[in-house]
Amino acid sequence: MITIVGIGGSLRKASWNRALVRAFAALAPENVTVEEATIEGIPLYDGDLEAASGIPPAVTALQDRIAAADGLLLASPEYNAGMPGVFENALDWLTRPPGAAGRVFSGKPTALTGATPGTAGTISAQAEWLPVLRAMGVNLWMGPRLYVSGVNKLFDDEGQLIDEVMRKRASDFIAGFAGYIRLLKSAQH
Ligand code: FNR
Repeated sequence: MITIVGIGGSLRKASWNRALVRAFAALAPENVTVEEATIEGIPLYDGDLEAASGIPPAVTALQDRIAAADGLLLASPEYNAGMPGVFENALDWLTRPPGAAGRVFSGKPTALTGATPGTAGTISAQAEWLPVLRAMGVNLWMGPRLYVSGVNKLFDDEGQLIDEVMRKRASDFIAGFAGYIRLLKSAQH
């Protein structure tokens, strides 16, 4: 069994990126589970807060989930041609305190995608994530890129991904990422 933690980088309940993570969960191949995680409850990073109170419980809980998972899936919105501050803030917290990034992210197989109602599919946000993910030390899956544009036309009112072309692309994406994780696991044994 392969377990992947999926995070949609938005606080909106009706977030398309959170819906995309749930679509991956539904489309994942046999023996692959995508568990949705949330960035809700993570405060703005403040070094004074960290010094006074340590790592917030929402951060520790998410760190533990990622550390225990076989892979990490990030679905990032795009704000002003970059990544949303709220998502990067969450990942910044997840690298705290010093040394935590090693436990949580080092070598972690990670897939990056993103969805937008706009036309460019989060291409700019995804590009901006690359140096950040490199600094975090993840093992970024460099399979086919998945830029989800016009996302507001792809789901039904119940939050199901109904667009057939995108269902196929999302299925291929999650299957490709799971295959990469499997390959890495078999190389370790
Ligand atoms: C956006 N949006 C947006 N979309 C895009 O494709 N390129 C962009 O540069 C921006 N810029 C931007 C800035 C700000 C401040 C906001 C609030 C929004 C639109 C964005 O893609 C849309 O709100 C998505 O629905 C956000 O993702 P979630 O919350 O639906 O996952």
